[in-house]
Amino acid sequence: MTGMEKSLCTLAAAFFLLYLNAALIQAQKASTDRNSLLKSTPRPASSFRPTKGTLTVTTKFKSRKFIVIDRLPSTLFKKLADWSNVCGVHLADCPPLGLESLRVHDSQIRASSSLRTGLGAHRGRLNIQSGIEDGDRYDGAWCARHKDKNQWLEVDALHLTKFTGVILQGRNSIWSWDFVETYKVQLSNDSVKWQTCMNGTEEAIFIGNQHTEIPVLALLPVPTVARYIRINPQTWYSNGTICLRAEILGCQVQDPSNIYAEEDSDYKDNLDFRHHNYKDMRTLMKSVHDECPNITRIYTIGRSYQGLKLYVMEFSDNPGKHELGEPEFRYVAGMHGNEALGRELVLNLMQYLCREFKKGNQRIARLITETRIHLLPSMNPDGYEEAYKKGSELAGWADGRYSYEGIDLNHNFPDLNNIMWNAQERALTKAQEKSKVPNHYIPMPEYYTKEDAMVAPETRAVINWMEEIPFVLSANLHGGELVVTYPFDCTRDWAPQEDTPTADNAFFRWLASVYASTNLVMSNPDRRVCHYENFQQHNNIINGGAWHTVPGSMNDFSYLHTNCFEVTVELSCDKFPHASELPIEWENNKESLLVYMEQVHRGIKGVIRDKQTRKGIPDAIIKVDDHEHDIRSAEGGDYWRLLNPGEYKIVVWAVGYFPSMRRCTVGMEPHPTLCDFTLTKTPAEVLKQIRAKSGKIPQDIQLRVRALRLKKLRASTKVINQKREGPRLRQKARKLNRKARAAGFWRA
Ligand SMILES: *[C@@H]1O[C@H](CO)[C@@H](O)[C@H](O)[C@H]1NC(C)=O
Ligand SMILES: *[C@@H]1O[C@H](CO)[C@@H](O)[C@H](O)[C@H]1NC(C)=O
Ligand SMILES: *[C@@H]1O[C@H](CO)[C@@H](O)[C@H](O)[C@H]1NC(C)=O
Ligand SMILES: *[C@@H]1O[C@H](CO)[C@@H](O)[C@H](O)[C@H]1NC(C)=O
Ligand SMILES: [Zn+2]
Repeated sequence: MTGMEKSLCTLAAAFFLLYLNAALIQAQKASTDRNSLLKSTPRPASSFRPTKGTLTVTTKFKSRKFIVIDRLPSTLFKKLADWSNVCGVHLADCPPLGLESLRVHDSQIRASSSLRTGLGAHRGRLNIQSGIEDGDRYDGAWCARHKDKNQWLEVDALHLTKFTGVILQGRNSIWSWDFVETYKVQLSNDSVKWQTCMNGTEEAIFIGNQHTEIPVLALLPVPTVARYIRINPQTWYSNGTICLRAEILGCQVQDPSNIYAEEDSDYKDNLDFRHHNYKDMRTLMKSVHDECPNITRIYTIGRSYQGLKLYVMEFSDNPGKHELGEPEFRYVAGMHGNEALGRELVLNLMQYLCREFKKGNQRIARLITETRIHLLPSMNPDGYEEAYKKGSELAGWADGRYSYEGIDLNHNFPDLNNIMWNAQERALTKAQEKSKVPNHYIPMPEYYTKEDAMVAPETRAVINWMEEIPFVLSANLHGGELVVTYPFDCTRDWAPQEDTPTADNAFFRWLASVYASTNLVMSNPDRRVCHYENFQQHNNIINGGAWHTVPGSMNDFSYLHTNCFEVTVELSCDKFPHASELPIEWENNKESLLVYMEQVHRGIKGVIRDKQTRKGIPDAIIKVDDHEHDIRSAEGGDYWRLLNPGEYKIVVWAVGYFPSMRRCTVGMEPHPTLCDFTLTKTPAEVLKQIRAKSGKIPQDIQLRVRALRLKKLRASTKVINQKREGPRLRQKARKLNRKARAAGFWRA
């Protein structure tokens, strides 16, 4: 293309966008009744709302994406089609019917024959996964029983549909290698009379797969209207059999005989429902900040390997600072770059929080006033860009999962579990007390901090962030299943799967249930399993280790290295849903995302202060009796201890202070119990401080210190003497020793 042509095209593209805008506004004006041609109000060009049967218009030279509703005046539709071949203005294909997303039900899919139940027609869905073993009910494709050219997989779209294309993939299995190389397509309105898709005067032969996992798109030479579509394999991998997974592209067309066609798809929240690449994401975040400058702040926590920034949006009534007593919450999405739904939901959430706050929504206002919320939509932006380029249907199951360097970020955190468990075991064999082994704030192992350690820059950025902000609660948004998992993710003794609860198992189960029970898809008792595991039998929650062991996960690290409790949410069967699914996915997850954030206000919280100076004491240890996991106070002495309802004995101690004990009761209501502590400095500490200031020591303190020293001396002398008395008394000495240690345990 010459420079001249290019600038002409740019002009043409700009004109096209103007034309489209005007046409849409006109269409909107022309129809105010229920037969409205356009259901969305034309707003800034980039945010037309899609509903079922959308089409996307992209121009090459202006990287704006339009999403308009299919039911446009035919003249406009024709214009769009004409333009689609000019100057890189591209009229995208129709969206997927939903074989992958499960919007198409099992009953809508039939086949000529099948090899066995686990390879039945209902398994012929794009990206469906089989279990490790083949041969159960959940295998990785539809496979025909016979190897001939008369086999077919049929999909009933239920409505008249303009079919535009087919996406084909081979069989998912680690034992078999099967895929279809070429196929024909047949269409029908009654599933009796079939019309074969033509290519001019010949029957069209479509190119399928050369690999089991890589999806291949074929567009129909002429988009055709029908209700049923059949994929009819012609040739297949010679040493294998006929197996395939598929997705069908089609737009529902209006059926004049069906008065119920007008489906109510009026989503309340008019958000920017589309996939946002890095640039679009930045633009959207900036626009939210511009809209709500008083309650938001954008900051970055580092860069990806390729240099993309890891942006975070903060929501707070006082952005940029920690407020005493106010808990900090975070959502992290996209640590697996191809699990794209979390990213979009977090972006939706930003828009939603901002708008509802401005509208005066009381619930949102309270949340933002009482919580400091941090939203990281993309932890692995390099991976996302890779998947985004291929698109929601063609990225397959793994493209973009890893960081640019090929690191799985959810295995890249230091494994503190085994450090803690090993220390516990050593303590047991040495007959020491288990309580002496740290159960929280486990330090980073040395190997991990070395220059040449294989640690992704994305992981380092998140670790620094976790260490900087006193987070209390978090969720880590993934995709590809429908389940909420809670720590530990790593099993003990390297078991491949085993229930591995934390000391806070009850609260973690509560957290997971809060999300799962309010999610509209998970909580639907009629939903089918995504791939091969039935999580519904566990109410859609499961211990991470009980699912499969993950050493070095973010959740485990968060729990063992910081105060923050974190669960993983697997948001949808489809890792990268088509843009047309985004409005419904927002509806499915909206309440869950909000109610989960509100859980940061459960349990007890308070401030730990010095009795004399009234100053907050940082790094004080908060111990719940009978609970092998402590937490620590933040910079200002404030702390948050997530707990289920109940009565608890809390002991707080800090270096240089006498410990303090209180009983605190957590009620059912969704706000925390205030439980403040004031600690008294030990005389030795007072002395040290006075010495440091080289001041004079008041007499009463001198006396107290002297008395304390004497007491200690007596105790240790007694122990030494008993030891001298011989082995018979060793038992007794040990007991005494333990008592002495217990009395002075705050010195540990
Ligand atoms: C249609 O025919 C053209 C010309 O023969 C050929 O290049 C193309 O691959 C055919 N497409 C299909 C889907 O059969
Ligand atoms: C199905 O019916 C529609 C509407 O009557 C018609 O336009 C279309 O051509 C038919 N398709 C086939 C494959 O017969
Ligand atoms: C098919 O299997 C035969 C025998 O196992 C082998 O010799 C041949 O190379 C295989 N063909 C392909 C295309 O893999
Ligand atoms: C931000 O706060 C200022 C001062 O309180 C107020 O005047 C202004 O209207 C607020 N802006 C928005 C967008 O809420
Ligand atoms: Zn994941």
